[in-house]
Amino acid sequence: MTTHGLLRACGLEMTPYTPHAMSDLFEFDSPPPLYAVMGNPIEHSKSPRIHELFATANNVRIDYRAIQVDPGGFAQAVHSFQAMGGRGLNVTVPFKFEARALADRRSPRVELAESANTLKMESDGIFADNTDGIGLVNDLQRNLGCSIVGRRVLLVGAGGAASGVVGPLLEQQPVRLIIANRSADRAVALAARFAAFGPVRGLGFDTLDDDDFDIIVNATSASLGGEIPALRPGVLTGTVLVYDMMYGGTATPFLQWASQHGAVRVADGLGMLVEQAAVSFEIWHGVYPATADVIATLRADLSAV
Ligand code: ATR
Repeated sequence: MTTHGLLRACGLEMTPYTPHAMSDLFEFDSPPPLYAVMGNPIEHSKSPRIHELFATANNVRIDYRAIQVDPGGFAQAVHSFQAMGGRGLNVTVPFKFEARALADRRSPRVELAESANTLKMESDGIFADNTDGIGLVNDLQRNLGCSIVGRRVLLVGAGGAASGVVGPLLEQQPVRLIIANRSADRAVALAARFAAFGPVRGLGFDTLDDDDFDIIVNATSASLGGEIPALRPGVLTGTVLVYDMMYGGTATPFLQWASQHGAVRVADGLGMLVEQAAVSFEIWHGVYPATADVIATLRADLSAV
């Protein structure tokens, strides 16, 4: 199916939507501004639900869709979306690197992460931002009350999810940030990219010391396969928070493992998901939405499944 066909299959017609020049006060009869999340797969994305909840709470009119894009079709899908009057996009796996590449302007967060999850269609081109890292930081600090400054942080994983959060974590001035990965060379390379931004070091699981961390963040995709990174339980000793960027209706395998081995406090990534969406919402609509009720609603959705 062509991208146009794909968009049409999602209920999006290709007739261009002309934004009104008059204020929104006069737009009652016009279609609401169009937003979407693009990825593959996309059917389980919670972004439409989150953005609709934000929009309702803030009296903002939006039409937010989930669009599955074939590999190789991302740039065309974005340009078709833009031609239809689309105002903003969230971008998820596997297109975050392409989203960075096709933008006309990029935030410093995008340059650091080398990927983008938020696009804003502006009159003079596409602006790209990456809200994943600040979403994690906001969840840790505002929702969980877990300050990062002066803390010893262990980031497990060195793939795309990890690279999006290293810069924002370092900005909070932890006393040290260790990136540990199953393949040590990827952790070393990721740490080297951020060496100028703070006390960061990369290593393999086998050279990780015990008893050394306040906060552990799992940024691996191991939970997706029901697996657990092969860390020694000793790393959990003394932690104030063990966090998994994954989430689900029940505790992730990593959080179950941490609880079983004595972690005093664990949290999953649902709050990060909502907070990264909140930063996107602010980029598009100029208001940072309240997130606590939305996190609670999403949690209730998950436990009802
Ligand atoms: P993502 O964009 O989700 O980060 P990715 O770039 O493919 O995906 O990275 C996946 C990460 O999860 C990597 O750090 C990977 O470790 P390797 O670099 O050694 O492959 C990690 N990972 C996946 N499965 C894992 C497992 N069973 N145990 C430990 N780490 C795992």
